[in-house]
Amino acid sequence: MEFWTSQGTAQVTYITVLLVGALVLLSTNGVVECGRPRISDGLEYPAISCRAHSASLEDFGGVGDGITSNTQAFKAAIDHLSQFSSQGGSQLIVPPGKWLTGPFNLTSHFTLYLQEDAVLLATQDENEWTVIEPLPSYGRGRDTEGGRYISLIFGYNLTDVVITGANGTIDGQGEPWWRKFRAGELNYTRPYLIELMFSQKIQMSNITLINSPSWHVHPVYCRDIIIQGLTILAPVKVPNTDGINPDSCTNTQIEDCYIVSGDDCIAVKSGWDQYGIAFGMPTKQLVIRRLTCISPSSAVIALGSEMSGGIEDVRAEDITAINSESGIRIKTAVGRGGYVKDIYVRGMTMKTMKWVFWMTGNYGSHPDNNYDPNALPVIENINYRDMVAENVTMAARLEGISGDTFSGICISNVTIRLTQKPKKLQWNCTDVAGISSDVTPQPCDLLPNQGPGKIAACNFPEENLPIENADVQMCSYKIPNL
Ligand SMILES: *[C@@H]1O[C@H](CO)[C@@H](O)[C@H](O)[C@H]1NC(C)=O
Ligand SMILES: *[C@@H]1O[C@H](CO)[C@@H](O)[C@H](O)[C@H]1NC(C)=O
Ligand SMILES: *[C@@H]1O[C@H](CO)[C@@H](O)[C@H](O)[C@H]1NC(C)=O
Ligand SMILES: *[C@@H]1O[C@H](CO)[C@@H](O)[C@H](O)[C@H]1NC(C)=O
Ligand SMILES: *[C@@H]1O[C@H](CO)[C@@H](O)[C@H](O)[C@H]1NC(C)=O
Ligand SMILES: *[C@@H]1O[C@H](CO)[C@@H](O)[C@H](O)[C@H]1NC(C)=O
Ligand SMILES: *[C@@H]1O[C@H](CO)[C@@H](O)[C@H](O)[C@H]1NC(C)=O
Ligand SMILES: *[C@@H]1O[C@H](CO)[C@@H](O)[C@H](O)[C@H]1NC(C)=O
Repeated sequence: MEFWTSQGTAQVTYITVLLVGALVLLSTNGVVECGRPRISDGLEYPAISCRAHSASLEDFGGVGDGITSNTQAFKAAIDHLSQFSSQGGSQLIVPPGKWLTGPFNLTSHFTLYLQEDAVLLATQDENEWTVIEPLPSYGRGRDTEGGRYISLIFGYNLTDVVITGANGTIDGQGEPWWRKFRAGELNYTRPYLIELMFSQKIQMSNITLINSPSWHVHPVYCRDIIIQGLTILAPVKVPNTDGINPDSCTNTQIEDCYIVSGDDCIAVKSGWDQYGIAFGMPTKQLVIRRLTCISPSSAVIALGSEMSGGIEDVRAEDITAINSESGIRIKTAVGRGGYVKDIYVRGMTMKTMKWVFWMTGNYGSHPDNNYDPNALPVIENINYRDMVAENVTMAARLEGISGDTFSGICISNVTIRLTQKPKKLQWNCTDVAGISSDVTPQPCDLLPNQGPGKIAACNFPEENLPIENADVQMCSYKIPNL
């Protein structure tokens, strides 16, 4: 487990895994593994773990014609490969082609590798989608009361899972789901594209995710997560197609992602009202960097609205936003309880924004009427610095909660240039408290200007999160021509 306990700077280890195991497999169970000439060049990519066993979806009857269902092929492949969890782990390669499939479950010590031009197509046949229990921290599905459709790629109680590739694609084919959701024709909450629950040691990298029925990536009750190089694309006018939603997760790194979405590019969450308070699992130790986001009707990074288990120690830097409704947005409500604290953002470049900063204390949206009206969220120590925004309609809309001031807000070194038709009132602040320095246009009186140079800058932590020191190995798979 040296990967997660390493100290100091990351060590890069180069390991060559020769698939000698494949020969053994061939002779023992007759399943042809990893022996096709089409991958004759082998594979090489960085990962948290390299695997001893490798197989192609085609070895399990997979057909990549875009019409044949591969649900059984995925199930057979992963059932078979799961036996190697304690024998060096396994990898399932999805070759170029269009692979129609229903939802399937991952296993531990497992890599799903999508080659270039491999496209997973999520089936649009609702009957293939198992209905599972609502999340305990939500009490009900997000779209409807009761259960929810399982995610296309689902994992529960797993350790050491990698989903990566040479930019292969997972296509949720969400159109009928969006239409039925809007028409109120769904009895259960829409599926997500990838959901991992109660899992640890996770890597998702270098793949493209498109058109999810709802959220694209949802790690929930997870820890030790690396997300890198994801391209996430959904039409900007479809409902709830959030990019990446870390939910009650610890120690997560999200880097180098490009997200165009009909909802928040990243939404940090931790459960909903009384259910989230009772479950009590925060999202903490989250770093987001080098994110590019286009979200015309939502936020680049949202904190909430489900935040009842608490959100703390979030660092975001080097963020680019284009044509988005808001930059960083805190969403909460009376009844949520929980907290959003120790939030640090620096280095944002924004172009064409409705609001740069937005805090909403009256978001509403309760799971049911049994929420506790005395459960007030604590919002404190929120730091924003080193930002430039152009073509902005309104600099900031900061609405705290009466009797529950959002406090410790610090904004420094921020230049906001306005659109041709800006709002007259640029900073509308209620029930918030904090300071500002070197910010234009001039912030509201509730964030008094300390004058240039009086405060150096708003805080940003110096030390890395543990996930940033994790070991990543270069895995090489030399595929023999059998
Ligand atoms: C995946 O796991 C879930 C719950 O753990 C289960 O309900 C579902 O049937 C499994 N799906 C498949 C395809 O095995
Ligand atoms: C989780 O997996 C471990 C083995 O990895 C097993 O011992 C445990 O029972 C599982 N827990 C649940 C809730 O499935
Ligand atoms: C991956 O594919 C997407 C969609 O085709 C594309 O926009 C993106 O630039 C590709 N990323 C890389 C690194 O090639
Ligand atoms: C939804 O539930 C109703 C009533 O139980 C049922 O008639 C209908 O067929 C269901 N719709 C779907 C899409 O499952
Ligand atoms: C992703 O791909 C880029 C090149 O396109 C490569 O530099 C990087 O190491 C890859 N990262 C992972 C985690 O797969
Ligand atoms: C102010 O922010 C800009 C980026 O917008 C950065 O280049 C500059 O170094 C910052 N100035 C200070 C004094 O930190
Ligand atoms: C500026 O923002 C407005 C919306 O407020 C938009 O219509 C316009 O295209 C933007 N201009 C540029 C140059 O991006
Ligand atoms: C300012 O925000 C408050 C809510 O906090 C709202 O009631 C008021 O209308 C806003 N004022 C303007 C001019 O937008």
